[in-house]
Amino acid sequence: MEAARLMEVVEGPVLPKSVTEESVLAVHHWTDELFTLRVTRPASFRFRSGEFAMLGLMVEGRPLLRAYSMASPSWDDGLDFFSIKVPDGPLTSRLQHVTVGDRLLLGRKPTGTLVLDALTPGRRLFLLGTGTGMAPFASLIRDPETYERYDEVVLTHTCRNVADLGYGASMVDALGDDPLVGEIAPSKLTYYASATREDFIHRGRITDLIDSGRLFSDLGIAGFDSATDRVMICGSVAMIKDTRALVEAAGFEEGSNAHPGTFVFEKAFAG
Ligand code: A2P
Repeated sequence: MEAARLMEVVEGPVLPKSVTEESVLAVHHWTDELFTLRVTRPASFRFRSGEFAMLGLMVEGRPLLRAYSMASPSWDDGLDFFSIKVPDGPLTSRLQHVTVGDRLLLGRKPTGTLVLDALTPGRRLFLLGTGTGMAPFASLIRDPETYERYDEVVLTHTCRNVADLGYGASMVDALGDDPLVGEIAPSKLTYYASATREDFIHRGRITDLIDSGRLFSDLGIAGFDSATDRVMICGSVAMIKDTRALVEAAGFEEGSNAHPGTFVFEKAFAG
Protein backbone atom coordinates (compact mmCIF):
# COMPACT_ATOMS: atom_id res chain seq x y z
CA MET A 1 0.00 0.00 0.00
CA GLU A 2 2.74 2.43 1.01
CA ALA A 3 4.78 1.34 -2.00
CA ALA A 4 1.82 1.89 -4.33
CA ARG A 5 1.30 5.38 -3.00
CA LEU A 6 4.96 6.17 -3.45
CA MET A 7 4.85 4.97 -7.04
CA GLU A 8 1.96 7.34 -7.76
CA VAL A 9 3.90 10.27 -6.43
CA VAL A 10 6.98 9.36 -8.38
CA GLU A 11 5.21 8.55 -11.65
CA GLY A 12 2.47 11.13 -12.13
CA PRO A 13 1.91 14.82 -11.49
CA VAL A 14 0.72 15.41 -7.95
CA LEU A 15 -3.00 16.08 -7.75
CA PRO A 16 -4.17 18.94 -5.58
CA LYS A 17 -6.02 17.66 -2.49
CA SER A 18 -9.13 19.53 -3.55
CA VAL A 19 -9.77 17.26 -6.58
CA THR A 20 -10.27 13.59 -7.41
CA GLU A 21 -9.40 11.95 -10.70
CA GLU A 22 -12.40 10.56 -12.60
CA SER A 23 -12.92 8.63 -15.85
CA VAL A 24 -14.97 9.73 -18.83
CA LEU A 25 -17.83 7.27 -19.36
CA ALA A 26 -19.48 8.91 -22.37
CA VAL A 27 -19.25 11.94 -24.64
CA HIS A 28 -22.03 13.28 -26.84
CA HIS A 29 -21.60 16.14 -29.31
CA TRP A 30 -24.97 17.86 -29.77
CA THR A 31 -23.79 20.54 -32.20
CA ASP A 32 -20.44 21.93 -33.32
CA GLU A 33 -20.54 24.08 -30.20
CA LEU A 34 -22.23 21.98 -27.51
CA PHE A 35 -21.38 18.64 -25.92
CA THR A 36 -22.12 16.58 -22.83
CA LEU A 37 -19.78 14.43 -20.77
CA ARG A 38 -20.60 11.65 -18.36
CA VAL A 39 -17.93 10.90 -15.79
CA THR A 40 -17.54 8.54 -12.85
CA ARG A 41 -18.80 9.78 -9.49
CA PRO A 42 -16.74 9.14 -6.38
CA ALA A 43 -18.71 7.68 -3.47
CA SER A 44 -17.73 10.66 -1.34
CA PHE A 45 -19.14 13.20 -3.85
CA ARG A 46 -22.46 14.45 -2.45
CA PHE A 47 -24.39 17.35 -3.97
CA ARG A 48 -27.85 18.84 -4.15
CA SER A 49 -29.49 18.90 -7.60
CA GLY A 50 -28.72 22.27 -9.23
CA GLU A 51 -25.25 22.71 -7.71
CA PHE A 52 -21.92 23.06 -9.54
CA ALA A 53 -18.38 21.77 -9.01
CA MET A 54 -14.96 22.36 -10.52
CA LEU A 55 -14.15 20.17 -13.53
CA GLY A 56 -11.02 20.11 -15.64
CA LEU A 57 -7.81 18.54 -16.84
CA MET A 58 -4.14 18.45 -16.06
CA VAL A 59 -2.51 20.79 -18.58
CA GLU A 60 1.27 20.84 -18.73
CA GLY A 61 1.45 19.32 -15.28
CA ARG A 62 -0.98 21.79 -13.71
CA PRO A 63 -4.70 21.50 -12.95
CA LEU A 64 -6.93 23.64 -15.19
CA LEU A 65 -10.42 23.75 -13.71
CA ARG A 66 -13.67 25.61 -14.40
CA ALA A 67 -17.03 25.65 -12.64
CA TYR A 68 -19.63 23.33 -14.17
CA SER A 69 -23.16 22.60 -13.04
CA MET A 70 -23.97 18.95 -12.59
CA ALA A 71 -26.61 18.18 -15.22
CA SER A 72 -27.48 14.84 -13.65
CA PRO A 73 -29.67 14.50 -10.56
CA SER A 74 -28.16 13.96 -7.14
CA TRP A 75 -29.29 10.29 -7.00
CA ASP A 76 -27.51 9.30 -10.23
CA ASP A 77 -24.43 7.01 -10.11
CA GLY A 78 -22.56 9.04 -12.75
CA LEU A 79 -22.13 12.79 -13.26
CA ASP A 80 -23.24 14.60 -16.42
CA PHE A 81 -21.89 17.97 -17.55
CA PHE A 82 -23.08 20.19 -20.44
CA SER A 83 -20.48 22.40 -22.06
CA ILE A 84 -19.95 24.81 -24.87
CA LYS A 85 -16.78 24.67 -26.96
CA VAL A 86 -14.98 27.98 -26.85
CA PRO A 87 -12.49 27.81 -29.76
CA ASP A 88 -9.72 29.56 -27.82
CA GLY A 89 -11.01 28.65 -24.36
CA PRO A 90 -8.11 27.29 -22.29
CA LEU A 91 -10.21 24.42 -20.95
CA THR A 92 -13.04 23.77 -23.42
CA SER A 93 -10.74 23.78 -26.45
CA ARG A 94 -9.15 20.70 -24.81
CA LEU A 95 -12.15 19.25 -23.00
CA GLN A 96 -14.13 18.90 -26.24
CA HIS A 97 -11.59 16.32 -27.46
CA VAL A 98 -11.78 13.92 -24.51
CA THR A 99 -12.95 10.39 -25.22
CA VAL A 100 -14.23 7.46 -23.16
CA GLY A 101 -11.64 6.31 -20.63
CA ASP A 102 -9.82 9.66 -20.43
CA ARG A 103 -9.14 11.00 -16.95
CA LEU A 104 -10.63 14.28 -15.70
CA LEU A 105 -10.28 16.24 -12.49
CA LEU A 106 -13.32 16.85 -10.31
CA GLY A 107 -13.43 19.25 -7.37
CA ARG A 108 -14.48 17.67 -4.09
CA LYS A 109 -16.76 20.51 -2.98
CA PRO A 110 -19.99 21.14 -4.89
CA THR A 111 -21.84 24.36 -4.14
CA GLY A 112 -24.41 26.74 -5.62
CA THR A 113 -27.61 28.71 -5.17
CA LEU A 114 -29.89 27.00 -7.72
CA VAL A 115 -31.12 24.61 -5.07
CA LEU A 116 -34.61 23.94 -3.79
CA ASP A 117 -33.52 24.84 -0.26
CA ALA A 118 -32.76 28.44 -1.30
CA LEU A 119 -36.45 29.03 -2.08
CA THR A 120 -39.34 29.43 0.34
CA PRO A 121 -42.27 27.04 -0.22
CA GLY A 122 -44.39 27.78 -3.31
CA ARG A 123 -46.84 26.22 -5.72
CA ARG A 124 -45.28 26.75 -9.16
CA LEU A 125 -41.57 26.72 -9.99
CA PHE A 126 -40.22 28.58 -13.03
CA LEU A 127 -36.81 27.43 -14.31
CA LEU A 128 -35.61 30.09 -16.77
CA GLY A 129 -32.50 29.01 -18.69
CA THR A 130 -30.53 30.15 -21.73
CA GLY A 131 -27.73 28.30 -23.51
CA THR A 132 -25.77 26.01 -21.17
CA GLY A 133 -27.90 27.44 -18.35
CA MET A 134 -30.02 24.37 -19.04
CA ALA A 135 -27.52 22.20 -17.13
CA PRO A 136 -28.64 22.73 -13.51
CA PHE A 137 -32.26 22.42 -14.63
CA ALA A 138 -31.54 19.09 -16.35
CA SER A 139 -30.60 17.98 -12.85
CA LEU A 140 -33.57 19.52 -11.04
CA ILE A 141 -36.23 18.20 -13.43
CA ARG A 142 -35.09 14.64 -12.63
CA ASP A 143 -35.12 15.11 -8.87
CA PRO A 144 -38.26 13.75 -7.18
CA GLU A 145 -38.02 16.47 -4.54
CA THR A 146 -38.76 19.11 -7.19
CA TYR A 147 -42.17 17.53 -7.74
CA GLU A 148 -42.76 16.91 -4.03
CA ARG A 149 -42.31 20.65 -3.40
CA TYR A 150 -44.20 22.05 -6.40
CA ASP A 151 -47.53 21.35 -8.07
CA GLU A 152 -46.24 22.73 -11.38
CA VAL A 153 -42.82 23.21 -12.91
CA VAL A 154 -42.30 25.45 -15.96
CA LEU A 155 -38.96 24.98 -17.69
CA THR A 156 -38.03 27.57 -20.30
CA HIS A 157 -34.95 27.20 -22.46
CA THR A 158 -33.91 29.83 -24.99
CA CYS A 159 -31.05 29.46 -27.44
CA ARG A 160 -29.91 31.23 -30.57
CA ASN A 161 -30.63 28.28 -32.85
CA VAL A 162 -33.07 25.38 -32.76
CA ALA A 163 -30.27 22.76 -32.78
CA ASP A 164 -28.91 24.26 -29.54
CA LEU A 165 -32.15 23.22 -27.83
CA GLY A 166 -31.51 19.53 -28.60
CA TYR A 167 -29.96 18.48 -25.32
CA GLY A 168 -32.67 20.08 -23.19
CA ALA A 169 -35.43 18.71 -25.41
CA SER A 170 -34.03 15.19 -25.19
CA MET A 171 -33.86 15.43 -21.38
CA VAL A 172 -37.50 16.47 -21.27
CA ASP A 173 -38.52 13.77 -23.77
CA ALA A 174 -36.86 11.10 -21.63
CA LEU A 175 -38.63 12.15 -18.40
CA GLY A 176 -41.51 9.72 -18.92
CA ASP A 177 -39.04 6.81 -18.83
CA ASP A 178 -37.16 8.10 -15.81
CA PRO A 179 -37.00 5.50 -13.00
CA LEU A 180 -37.78 8.03 -10.25
CA VAL A 181 -39.84 10.83 -11.77
CA GLY A 182 -41.33 9.02 -14.80
CA GLU A 183 -44.78 8.83 -13.20
CA ILE A 184 -45.00 12.37 -11.90
CA ALA A 185 -42.85 14.65 -14.06
CA PRO A 186 -44.81 14.47 -17.34
CA SER A 187 -48.00 15.66 -15.61
CA LYS A 188 -46.31 18.48 -13.68
CA LEU A 189 -43.67 19.80 -16.05
CA THR A 190 -44.33 22.26 -18.87
CA TYR A 191 -41.43 22.75 -21.27
CA TYR A 192 -41.27 26.03 -23.19
CA ALA A 193 -38.42 26.34 -25.67
CA SER A 194 -37.66 29.37 -27.80
CA ALA A 195 -35.07 30.29 -30.40
CA THR A 196 -33.90 33.84 -31.01
CA ARG A 197 -32.14 33.63 -34.35
CA GLU A 198 -34.21 31.10 -36.24
CA ASP A 199 -37.88 30.40 -36.85
CA PHE A 200 -39.36 28.11 -34.21
CA ILE A 201 -42.70 27.45 -32.47
CA HIS A 202 -41.73 30.10 -29.91
CA ARG A 203 -39.39 32.85 -30.90
CA GLY A 204 -37.62 35.51 -28.86
CA ARG A 205 -35.61 36.20 -25.73
CA ILE A 206 -37.15 35.04 -22.47
CA THR A 207 -37.03 38.64 -21.23
CA ASP A 208 -39.13 39.82 -24.19
CA LEU A 209 -41.51 36.89 -23.80
CA ILE A 210 -42.03 37.78 -20.15
CA ASP A 211 -42.23 41.52 -20.73
CA SER A 212 -44.76 41.22 -23.55
CA GLY A 213 -46.85 38.72 -21.59
CA ARG A 214 -46.45 36.24 -24.43
CA LEU A 215 -44.94 33.54 -22.20
CA PHE A 216 -47.93 33.71 -19.88
CA SER A 217 -50.58 33.79 -22.61
CA ASP A 218 -48.88 30.81 -24.29
CA LEU A 219 -48.92 28.96 -20.95
CA GLY A 220 -52.51 30.01 -20.26
CA ILE A 221 -51.70 31.77 -16.99
CA ALA A 222 -52.18 35.34 -15.83
CA GLY A 223 -48.54 36.19 -15.10
CA PHE A 224 -46.03 35.92 -12.29
CA ASP A 225 -47.47 35.73 -8.78
CA SER A 226 -44.72 36.19 -6.22
CA ALA A 227 -46.98 34.82 -3.48
CA THR A 228 -47.01 31.33 -4.96
CA ASP A 229 -44.48 31.26 -7.83
CA ARG A 230 -40.77 30.64 -7.33
CA VAL A 231 -38.12 31.38 -9.95
CA MET A 232 -34.65 30.07 -10.78
CA ILE A 233 -32.60 31.87 -13.46
CA CYS A 234 -29.49 30.55 -15.21
CA GLY A 235 -27.83 32.15 -18.24
CA SER A 236 -25.25 34.71 -19.30
CA VAL A 237 -24.42 37.70 -17.12
CA ALA A 238 -26.52 39.94 -19.37
CA MET A 239 -29.45 37.52 -19.38
CA ILE A 240 -29.40 37.30 -15.59
CA LYS A 241 -29.25 41.07 -15.18
CA ASP A 242 -32.26 41.63 -17.45
CA THR A 243 -34.32 38.68 -16.20
CA ARG A 244 -33.61 39.59 -12.60
CA ALA A 245 -34.88 43.11 -13.19
CA LEU A 246 -38.16 41.71 -14.51
CA VAL A 247 -38.74 39.28 -11.64
CA GLU A 248 -37.76 41.89 -9.05
CA ALA A 249 -40.26 44.30 -10.63
CA ALA A 250 -42.86 41.53 -10.24
CA GLY A 251 -42.17 41.46 -6.47
CA PHE A 252 -39.76 38.52 -6.14
CA GLU A 253 -36.94 38.65 -3.60
CA GLU A 254 -33.56 37.01 -3.97
CA GLY A 255 -32.91 33.94 -1.85
CA SER A 256 -29.79 32.11 -0.74
CA ASN A 257 -28.91 28.97 1.16
CA ALA A 258 -28.82 30.94 4.41
CA HIS A 259 -31.88 33.09 3.67
CA PRO A 260 -34.37 31.42 1.33
CA GLY A 261 -36.34 33.80 -0.90
CA THR A 262 -38.66 33.73 -3.87
CA PHE A 263 -36.03 33.66 -6.64
CA VAL A 264 -32.41 32.63 -7.15
CA PHE A 265 -29.97 32.95 -10.05
CA GLU A 266 -26.60 31.73 -11.19
CA LYS A 267 -24.34 32.42 -14.15
CA ALA A 268 -24.16 29.65 -16.75
CA PHE A 269 -20.53 28.65 -16.58
CA ALA A 270 -18.29 28.43 -19.62
CA GLY A 271 -14.64 28.75 -20.37
P1 A2P B 1 -29.93 36.59 -28.73
O1 A2P B 1 -29.77 35.62 -29.86
O2 A2P B 1 -30.96 37.62 -28.97
O3 A2P B 1 -28.60 37.19 -28.29
P2 A2P B 1 -25.73 33.15 -25.59
O4 A2P B 1 -25.41 31.94 -26.43
O5 A2P B 1 -25.17 34.43 -26.09
O6 A2P B 1 -25.53 32.93 -24.12
O7 A2P B 1 -27.30 33.32 -25.76
C1 A2P B 1 -28.19 32.30 -25.41
C2 A2P B 1 -29.58 32.86 -25.55
O8 A2P B 1 -29.75 33.91 -24.59
C3 A2P B 1 -29.81 33.48 -26.91
O9 A2P B 1 -31.09 33.08 -27.36
C4 A2P B 1 -29.72 34.97 -26.65
O10 A2P B 1 -30.52 35.75 -27.48
C5 A2P B 1 -30.27 35.05 -25.23
N1 A2P B 1 -29.82 36.27 -24.56
C6 A2P B 1 -28.65 36.92 -24.70
N2 A2P B 1 -28.61 38.01 -23.93
C7 A2P B 1 -29.79 38.09 -23.29
C8 A2P B 1 -30.36 39.01 -22.37
N3 A2P B 1 -29.70 40.09 -21.95
N4 A2P B 1 -31.60 38.75 -21.91
C9 A2P B 1 -32.29 37.67 -22.34
N5 A2P B 1 -31.81 36.78 -23.21
C10 A2P B 1 -30.58 36.97 -23.69
